[in-house]
Amino acid sequence: MTKTINLTLKIWRQKGPEATGTLETFEATDISTDMSFLEMLDVVNERLTLEGREPIAFDHDCREGICGTCGAVVNGRPHGPQKGTTLCQLHMRHFASGDTLVIEPWRARAFKVIKDLVVDRSAFDRIIQAGGFITIRTGSAPDANAIPIPTDTLEHAVDFAECIGCGACVASCPNGAAMLFVGAKISHLGLLPQGQPERARRALKMVEAMEREAFGACTNYRSCEAVCPKEISISGIARMNKDFRRASLAGAAPAHGKKR
Ligand code: SF4
Ligand code: FES
Repeated sequence: MTKTINLTLKIWRQKGPEATGTLETFEATDISTDMSFLEMLDVVNERLTLEGREPIAFDHDCREGICGTCGAVVNGRPHGPQKGTTLCQLHMRHFASGDTLVIEPWRARAFKVIKDLVVDRSAFDRIIQAGGFITIRTGSAPDANAIPIPTDTLEHAVDFAECIGCGACVASCPNGAAMLFVGAKISHLGLLPQGQPERARRALKMVEAMEREAFGACTNYRSCEAVCPKEISISGIARMNKDFRRASLAGAAPAHGKKR
């Protein structure tokens, strides 16, 4: 038989980027423990809509933990209490009846609140546009065996490729740093043979773009690694710093840390 729980939700409501936000309290009763966290919010929103009230705005898309669109801070932890789990894959069985959940948007200078739990993560897009790609000719699919890659290298690259760009790392960091995200992208592409021709340029351009945005600098708190739903390793940050330093020494580059 399906178990149900009753929760008190304190949810951040904010009408727009310039509006003052506040925590609003909702009683979420008869919530099935089989539901995901987002399905629980759907139920709350259905009830609000029936009462003629404004539903809570939150981001979501795949609901399978692969797109990076969802995310909120639950009781102080981005994506909630389950390690290695996105908010859409968090299930209500991890909560007990009578719990109070404080649900807030990502808190970071670079991620402005658009409405309620929705934040603007376009800073990540601009970093990717600066160099988070490989330049290849498109057309027919290349032969899968044309460029042999050792299994260990591939596995290592895929570990970093798992980053879904959710921004939890930034939200958890006391400095609001984006280095786990940028380190993951630089490491993913920098480990593969296809990523070599643009490796130096990529590191320079992506770090420059990161510094143009309102992100802070890494001081090794490692909270990013602890909350990352894909458990990306901070070794990616070391790899990013190494690539950036090498590229800076090899050619003209802005000093690391210099704001533009
Ligand atoms: S490194 Fe982890 S927390 Fe940061 S954007 Fe990628 S998946 Fe999200
Ligand atoms: S909605 Fe796609 S990862 Fe959560």
